[in-house]
Amino acid sequence: MKLLVTGGAGFIGSAFVRLVAGRADLDVVNVDALTYAGNLENLASVASSPRYRFVKADITSFDDIEKVFSEEKPDAVVHFAAESHVDRSILMPDAFVRTNVFGTFTLLEAAKRHKTARFVHVSTDEVYGSLDEPHEADENYPLKPSSPYSASKAGSDLLALSYYTTFKLPVLVTRASNNYGPCQFPEKLIPLMISNALEGKPLPIYGDGMQVRDWLFVDDHCRGILSLVEKGRPGEVYNIGGSRSLPNIEVVKRIIAATGQTDKLMTYVTDRPGHDRRYALTSEKLEKETGWKTLVPFEEGLAETVKWYRENTDWVSRVKSGEYKTYYTRNYGDR
Ligand code: NAD
Ligand code: TYD
Repeated sequence: MKLLVTGGAGFIGSAFVRLVAGRADLDVVNVDALTYAGNLENLASVASSPRYRFVKADITSFDDIEKVFSEEKPDAVVHFAAESHVDRSILMPDAFVRTNVFGTFTLLEAAKRHKTARFVHVSTDEVYGSLDEPHEADENYPLKPSSPYSASKAGSDLLALSYYTTFKLPVLVTRASNNYGPCQFPEKLIPLMISNALEGKPLPIYGDGMQVRDWLFVDDHCRGILSLVEKGRPGEVYNIGGSRSLPNIEVVKRIIAATGQTDKLMTYVTDRPGHDRRYALTSEKLEKETGWKTLVPFEEGLAETVKWYRENTDWVSRVKSGEYKTYYTRNYGDR
């Protein structure tokens, strides 16, 4: 089977490509525009595989995408490419609408024209919005996105599902909780805190730091997606959660301990506008239908992640040079 993976140079997409590159029955074509978040270094271990091919292309370009589909004739699309960071969506929402909504539309149209046998649209639990205790979202929970990021993902989820209902395109939607692991761009909570802690820099905590997220190790997420490529039912939505809810402050304290730093680095900063208080979801449907379960406990995954950032300081300094500095100052001021 040939998979067309979009956004395979990003954090989760590259973990997925590394996972499937080990499978003798799968060929992979990775389509990525290499934005600030795309990094081919993440794919060094698979770059020379005869079953892997990289195509630099923008998912918002009909011409680029038509060319890839005509040349590659993929059996399935696994669509990761997106603008993925909430804080950036507050500062510059236009790219989110363009890539996440229009880019998904372009891919759906190509898949429809080429009668692609499966289209897995990778989405997020953030589309459900903030949930009060003790509620957990299942796949029928109402959508109530808060940020331009989550609203653009909710829009693309609905568009993708409409292609199943209207055109019988075999679309599946996955909604995962917060991922962490190696190769994550240091703008999201865990990699930002690890990288700042390793450099002895302040750890910026939004508001009171009591917001709750459900943490999922990236390889567990990727195994969940692969199980749905193989066994998921078209037209369905599947949650993929880590079953490990923690307040941000607790995550930061664990990172401080793991990096040998002190609590003095914790710096409370102005809260993010529209900040969701709590995400919570159940993955029972995925577990029941595919037998998937998480394999990596948070303690183990966090230790592995800290180790990776310690051992890959060149990767970190390369991605932190250039545009990152402008973004960091814009979002956090001079802290
Ligand atoms: P990321 O920001 O690390 O990577 C995104 C990738 O998409 C990059 O390689 C980038 O170059 C590529 N890209 C962006 N715009 C493109 C365009 N116009 N054309 C082609 N490629 C383009 O993102 P991530 O954290 O790996 O997230 C991947 C997917 O998973 C996203 O759809 C995101 O919404 C979803 N998701 C992420 C999380 C999380 O915690 N990070 C959780 C649930 C779901
Ligand atoms: P993030 O990793 O941006 O994921 P999301 O907002 O998509 O869930 O943030 C996770 C949590 O950490 C969220 O409650 C916001 C908080 N946070 C901080 O307190 N400080 C930071 O510098 C960042 C990036 C996030």
